[in-house]
Amino acid sequence: MDNLKIVEKLNQILRHEWTGVAQYAQAGFLVTGLWREVFSGMFFDSAKESFGHARLVGDKIVALGGVPTVERAPIRQSHQLAEMLQHALEFESKAVQLYTEALGLCEDDRALTVFLEDILKQEQDGVDQISKLLRQQESQSAVGGSAASQAG
Ligand SMILES: [Fe+2]
Repeated sequence: MDNLKIVEKLNQILRHEWTGVAQYAQAGFLVTGLWREVFSGMFFDSAKESFGHARLVGDKIVALGGVPTVERAPIRQSHQLAEMLQHALEFESKAVQLYTEALGLCEDDRALTVFLEDILKQEQDGVDQISKLLRQQESQSAVGGSAASQAG
């Protein structure tokens, strides 16, 4: 296994997780309206999950002899819930992609493979959950649309 390559990939992942901490917290701050009660907490939980992953990955980078990055990418933000969820879906999908790429560099290191697979599973859960939320949003707006046309 090429330690330098894996540290580089893990730092790319860490940068993504730091972005998640800020992006999800911002969504938690900005979400308003009736659904704030539900989604603000959900976004802050996701920020905590990103922080948890950042901590695991940062510790692993040091164990492999590297220095964890303190940088993050620009965040995506919105005042619209559906758009916030779309950003979240894209964020989680990118995380799945990055952890999958890191797994491709593990070769025969079983412990590192299991370490990354554990997190990958959580990232895929995120994709699944948000996909379902967005599906519900679409059907709700379809219901809202037909109610509005009945009222008119
Ligand atoms: Fe994560």
